[in-house]
Amino acid sequence: MSSDFGKTLRVGVFGESHGVAIGVTVDGLPAGERIDMDELQAFLDRRRPGKNPLSTTRRETDVPEFLSGLRDGVTCGTPLCAVIHNSDHHSADYAELADKPRPSHADYTAWVKWRGQADMRGGGHFSGRLTAPLCVAGGIAGQILARRGVFVGAHLAAVGTEEDEIFPLHPTGELFRAVAAKPFPTLSDAAGERMQRVILDAREAQDSVGGIIECAAIGLPAGVGEPMFDGVENRLAAALFGIPAVKGVEFGAGFGSARLRGSENNDALRVENGRVVTETNRAGGILGGITNSMPLTLRVGIKPTPSIGQKQKTVSLSRMENTELTVHGRHDPCIAHRAVPVVEAVTACVLLDLLLEEHHGAF
Ligand SMILES: Cc1cc2nc3c(=O)[nH]c(=O)nc-3n(C[C@H](O)[C@H](O)[C@H](O)COP(=O)(O)O)c2cc1C
Repeated sequence: MSSDFGKTLRVGVFGESHGVAIGVTVDGLPAGERIDMDELQAFLDRRRPGKNPLSTTRRETDVPEFLSGLRDGVTCGTPLCAVIHNSDHHSADYAELADKPRPSHADYTAWVKWRGQADMRGGGHFSGRLTAPLCVAGGIAGQILARRGVFVGAHLAAVGTEEDEIFPLHPTGELFRAVAAKPFPTLSDAAGERMQRVILDAREAQDSVGGIIECAAIGLPAGVGEPMFDGVENRLAAALFGIPAVKGVEFGAGFGSARLRGSENNDALRVENGRVVTETNRAGGILGGITNSMPLTLRVGIKPTPSIGQKQKTVSLSRMENTELTVHGRHDPCIAHRAVPVVEAVTACVLLDLLLEEHHGAF
């Protein structure tokens, strides 16, 4: 199946944006883990839309209902299933899109793939709404990791051409918590103000903007992951590209390292308190697909929201002719700031999966 990922910890999302409910199944969670429901809900609320003009005005409470796998808030070891009921949908806004695919959305490719049978109301299974159940899985994975000293955090590194500061060489759990508590997830509040202006300007122009998310994980031991095709980078990239609108993933200095000389790019090694560390971290904590115990760092590029209010060129599929489309309905003028906890969630799920695998399912 393509809507799930992971080996020892298997995470699968299901549902459509305007169906009865969306949800997640998580198989392979360690038994006996207490899940703090308030913390989980606070995590989900960071992604939730409708809080301000920076996101779609669709109002959803995004409160998960657990059907299995949890008893009195403690994991049972059996497959966990959680659903989130859809309530605030305006399906009429999407009637025209059944015949006229939105440029840069999945309307056309889904129509080809499933011969017009997919429920594409509100973007269907391709909707950003499917990232809410992903955050249920990731919020739980994050709590289990934190109990073992592994912390995952992210911030909005750029919107359009406006940039935030970057994470320090050694980000801390406190820094992750501080940025997560902000209404707009940047390290620098001044940069955050500038980015919000860019988003509001795009909204005003019936347009949208993209952005970049920087994510880091600390507390990972050295030696996690496998070489070549099953490395930590491979596993993370495969899952992160499952987040709708992600068009790029890079680790450490990423594409920037291609412009450096070896003498500029290499991370010098030294011993510190009996541990091997590096003085810089352009490798992003991964060498040969295997962690080296330095912070794992990655960046995710998010494209501008496809649905914009401006008139655009498209086609009529029934008449097989060129036409124009004006997208109605409620859409995010920028996806990137809402996707910050989603990137954390997916990263946490993949890291927990890798650590469980390393410890034969009992990390
Ligand atoms: C949190 C989130 C919110 C999104 N909101 C919208 C939206 O309001 N309108 C839209 O057209 N696309 C939105 N998207 C993006 C589409 O779901 C995505 O572009 C589409 O499924 C095509 O997939 P691709 O961009 O990965 O190729 C959102 C994505 C995320 C992660």
